Amino acid sequence: MIERSSGEDSDTWHVPAMAEEVLRFLIRDTTRIIVDCTLGPGGHAEAMLKVAPPDSVLLGLDLDEDALGLAAERLSVFGDRVVLRKMNFKDLGTGLPAGFMGSVSALLIDCGISKLQIVKPDRGFSFDRNGELDMRFDKSASISAASVLARMDVAELGGLLWQFGEKTRSRRIARAIIQARDNGRLGTTADLSAVVKSVVRARAAKSLARVFLAIRSRVNRELENLSEVLEALPQVLASGGRAAVIAYHGTEDRIVKQSFRKFSGRCVCPPERVICDCGKQAWFEVLTPKPVTPSVEEMRHNPSSRSARIRVVEKM
Ligand SMILES: C[S@@+](CC[C@H](N)C(=O)[O-])C[C@H]1O[C@@H](n2cnc3c(N)ncnc32)[C@H](O)[C@@H]1O
Repeated sequence: MIERSSGEDSDTWHVPAMAEEVLRFLIRDTTRIIVDCTLGPGGHAEAMLKVAPPDSVLLGLDLDEDALGLAAERLSVFGDRVVLRKMNFKDLGTGLPAGFMGSVSALLIDCGISKLQIVKPDRGFSFDRNGELDMRFDKSASISAASVLARMDVAELGGLLWQFGEKTRSRRIARAIIQARDNGRLGTTADLSAVVKSVVRARAAKSLARVFLAIRSRVNRELENLSEVLEALPQVLASGGRAAVIAYHGTEDRIVKQSFRKFSGRCVCPPERVICDCGKQAWFEVLTPKPVTPSVEEMRHNPSSRSARIRVVEKM
């Protein structure tokens, strides 16, 4: 069982999803360089540092300066074993510190947002807390939910909502949102929630979650960032190094599944060929043929882990 930090009883504290599985898959006696691509308030990072060999180091990345600040405090007990950076994980292939490229033994991507971000109304991530239409992970970024919605038409927004699971009412919701925008009635997250609720009366919470997720994902280019970092993994990991990705919805998980499958393709070059040129070189062994989901116990203690699923690869 993972020990809980003192702050985790608080209503606002983020409980890391699938921490037992992260430790089991990623941390071994040979672990030296750990990269936590989605540091958040540092829950997984703290758990990994506690059990990793004492000469291991952790590089923690996040786009959110509030998260980096909290994590810095939380991880200060580990001294110079920890290096934190404000960086988009999509730039991992070019932005790693000297000596890290090709040497990473454990890498974690925990997609999505932390509770720390959801509970702050001014960040605009929550459908039941009123705030600006913001939703940026990086508060210095120029694109917000308001600017994304200002540019979209019904077809584009409908397509986006459909992609994120709102299959039957995507077009009607999109039309209502664009109409509210054009009438000057779309200034806040409460306005957005009210528009969605006016279309979807039954099971509104599900639709609200999907609409907010879809817009947040577009604001932060979440799917694009994920695809880019997955492309860099073969270069970033050491031989024998492992990467784990925790996804929270089907679209995200499909990207992970397809990338891991692509990089675990078997070479079909004839045996006499010394250097592979079929383009199907196998970089990874997939350690999770099916995604692993949280235990019933975890889902009970931490309901926000319900939709989590983890996939893990090891570089050959
Ligand atoms: C689910 S939270 C991570 C929680 C963390 N694993 C923990 O246990 O405390 C995801 C974090 O990833 C960050 N994030 C999302 N996309 C990112 C990106 N492309 N680059 C860097 N950080 C990102 C978010 O700002 C958020 O803080």
